[in-house]
Amino acid sequence: MARRPSGNSADRVGRVLVLAGGLSHERDVSLRSGRRVSEALRDAGIDVDERDVDAALLPRLREDAPDCVVPLLHGESGEDGAIREVLELLGLSYVGSPPQACRIAFDKPVAKTVAAGAGIRTPAGVTLPAETFRELGAAAVMESLVARVGLPLFVKPAKGGSALGCSVVREAAELPAAMVNAFSYGDTALVESFVPGTEVAVTVVDTGDGPRALPVVGIFPDGGVYDYTARYTAGSTEFQVPAKLDDAVLAECARVAATAHEVLGLRDLSRSDLIVDADGTVWFLEVNVAPGLTETSTVPLAVQAAGLDLGDLVADLVRAAVARSLR
Ligand SMILES: Nc1ncnc2c1ncn2[C@@H]1O[C@H](COP(=O)(O)OP(=O)(O)OP(=O)(O)O)[C@@H](O)[C@H]1O
Ligand SMILES: [Mg+2]
Repeated sequence: MARRPSGNSADRVGRVLVLAGGLSHERDVSLRSGRRVSEALRDAGIDVDERDVDAALLPRLREDAPDCVVPLLHGESGEDGAIREVLELLGLSYVGSPPQACRIAFDKPVAKTVAAGAGIRTPAGVTLPAETFRELGAAAVMESLVARVGLPLFVKPAKGGSALGCSVVREAAELPAAMVNAFSYGDTALVESFVPGTEVAVTVVDTGDGPRALPVVGIFPDGGVYDYTARYTAGSTEFQVPAKLDDAVLAECARVAATAHEVLGLRDLSRSDLIVDADGTVWFLEVNVAPGLTETSTVPLAVQAAGLDLGDLVADLVRAAVARSLR
């Protein structure tokens, strides 16, 4: 593919290391994000190396440090701040949010509390660890849950991704299986009101001039549910960019995503997952610090719709990260 001229000269970016893979449930997704971004950076004329996260990584980073790391690890250790903490220990510059902000964003109930404190609407929910069900009796706890949250409700792991362990519960009898599903991905579950409406994803980027929201992506899965298969099977979900919603609603989606990015202390790139209900109210579900960048992911669609090139954008984020670490 022909190299596109980048805004700045490629040599100022130096050598970039893309980290992808890891041991989370989203390993495959991460490897696909890594391949896509590495290719885009190469097309932009950047010197890129790709590596998995394993015991060979640290010796390699110490011996031959890259100028900047682009961590594209999804799931627990990638998004909970752990890998960024290690990059900071090594004094390496990297693209993305700092560890403390990742820890807050990756914990959905905590992130929802912070977002709600900034006036963002988020579905009412209850957060409970598996022990509570064991100690107090699962049936009694579930009865109180249904009475409080109402039906239909939505169950998900408090920390997770790619819709793994998520279920809609329309009747109380479906709740036990939904809880077991969520607890198979983590020890704490978030049970929240089910919000019917149009699902949208809003990417926020900040290459040094402050966070800005890219065009809102509307998500319409063929089967009506945006589950793992609908996310990563090409052609199984229809996307609208920008989503066909009123301009005022689109502006509100952008405002909510930019506000979430700021109040959670996020940096460089994030993606907020929102639902717009029939009244045009925007509900915040969660924000991702290492959003998917695969061929079927929403962030690359938003980047393209904004008239940007993915490789040039990531190169700009690398430049911003290097400048930040020099400061
Ligand atoms: N309260 C809710 N009401 C209706 N649908 C919901 C609700 N919460 C989540 N969903 C659906 O479940 C999907 C996954 O939920 P969420 O985005 O919170 O978790 P995730 O597994 O972290 O996803 P991601 O891969 O986007 O990081 C959403 O994309 C949406 O389709
Ligand atoms: Mg999500």
